[in-house]
Amino acid sequence: MKKTMRKGLQVCLLLLMVGRLQGRVTAPERLEAPVDKPFTLTCSVSRDRGESLRQVRWIDVQNQTLLTYQPGQRDSVSGQQHVELASSPKDTSAIIIRRVSFRDEGCYTCIFDMHPSGSKQGHTCLTVTAQVTVESNKTAVSGKKASLSCSYGLPEKVQQISWKHTSAQGVSTDVASYAKRSDPMIEPPYQGRVWLSPSLSNSQLTIQPVAIEDEGCYTCLYTTHTEGQKSSTVCLATYVLPKPQVSYKTTSPGVIEANCTSVSRPPAEIVWNVERDNRTMGPPVTTHIPQGDGTTLVISTLTVQSGLLKDVSVKCLVHHKGLESPIGVSMNTKIGTALTILISVTTVAALLVMSLCFCLWKCFLRKEDQEEENKLHLYTTLTGHFKACVCHLISKAADHEEAELFNIPR
Ligand SMILES: *[C@@H]1O[C@H](CO)[C@@H](O)[C@H](O)[C@H]1NC(C)=O
Ligand SMILES: *[C@@H]1O[C@H](CO)[C@@H](O)[C@H](O)[C@H]1NC(C)=O
Ligand SMILES: *[C@@H]1O[C@H](CO)[C@@H](O)[C@H](O)[C@H]1NC(C)=O
Ligand SMILES: *[C@@H]1O[C@H](CO)[C@@H](O)[C@H](O)[C@H]1NC(C)=O
Repeated sequence: MKKTMRKGLQVCLLLLMVGRLQGRVTAPERLEAPVDKPFTLTCSVSRDRGESLRQVRWIDVQNQTLLTYQPGQRDSVSGQQHVELASSPKDTSAIIIRRVSFRDEGCYTCIFDMHPSGSKQGHTCLTVTAQVTVESNKTAVSGKKASLSCSYGLPEKVQQISWKHTSAQGVSTDVASYAKRSDPMIEPPYQGRVWLSPSLSNSQLTIQPVAIEDEGCYTCLYTTHTEGQKSSTVCLATYVLPKPQVSYKTTSPGVIEANCTSVSRPPAEIVWNVERDNRTMGPPVTTHIPQGDGTTLVISTLTVQSGLLKDVSVKCLVHHKGLESPIGVSMNTKIGTALTILISVTTVAALLVMSLCFCLWKCFLRKEDQEEENKLHLYTTLTGHFKACVCHLISKAADHEEAELFNIPR
């Protein structure tokens, strides 16, 4: 009898202690809230029969009142601007932090004022978290500029940001780093062509000029006070744009072999186009020759009847990922046109110079009559030479054009 009574008392005590410990308020102990997003905090109370809930109060990390209200009375809600009351089941209280920021990190208290038993409280601690974000993979043209950026929503927690490069072969090297209250540090091999923005939230790595070896993946690593290290990776591809050229020679009478060559990275695709018609005249032969520097020489060889060049325009079209539209190199007309323009310009220039000389001469003639004889002699000699020279040039250029067009050995 005595034994059972003692046991009952023990159970009662234990229950009482558990009740005390829980405070009859249940709230999650630890929560993680992503920065810049809304977040809901909840607490619930277990109510005895005959007890009534008069008021709910929420206390923030600074021990300031965050929000208070009387259940069932809409007008009774009062509190800070950045929070609002959420709808919740009976005996549960939920509040929404509209946009979580670094300042919201800490412990919150929810207090249920009960009648007649007094107030019961619970605690929830919030950790604000953020992700490291990078842009999508990029491409850069060799010799130009490339910018890579990386951001972390909680700069307050960051001690240092560093950038690492990993080549396609898997070799990793440190590129640059920036720590709070110091200058960005660029590793010696990158000095002079790599820059890092002095920012912990939004880090920007700029490479100029971009080299082929800069291709690979870049990892930005944030070292934080509380969350350890966080990182993200973005990859960079480097392009070398093609500068195609066409050359040709007569292999046998009436047959011309034309080569369209392009050095680029990645390899270009070469097609032949005959007067807006994409049909190639007989299949061209394409050769890929990798160059030591990471570029590839592509040669496309097309064999045509020489007579065709006189009738239609033959073009080599070079397609490359780094180009908005393909580069076209004409095989026949272009050279002729260029030469014609050159001849016209030279002739006009020569005529202008000669007339200028003539005018000057006339001026001198009027002023200094005595030396007329000598100068007239000089003038005729000079213009004679000049004319002879120009005539020679024109005839040479014309020959050259013919030779280029019909491939007559000079
Ligand atoms: C809030 O109050 C508790 C005790 O009620 C105290 O331990 C804590 O340091 C206070 N926090 C701040 C930020 O004042
Ligand atoms: C970026 O490139 C890397 C390597 O080329 C690849 O593994 C990754 O999936 C790419 N990421 C995106 C988002 O395209
Ligand atoms: C075209 O390229 C080939 C090599 O692929 C070379 O043997 C040939 O001489 C070239 N022809 C011309 C006209 O340049
Ligand atoms: C050639 O042109 C025709 C229409 O003009 C098109 O349908 C076809 O896909 C083209 N072929 C190539 C290889 O570009």
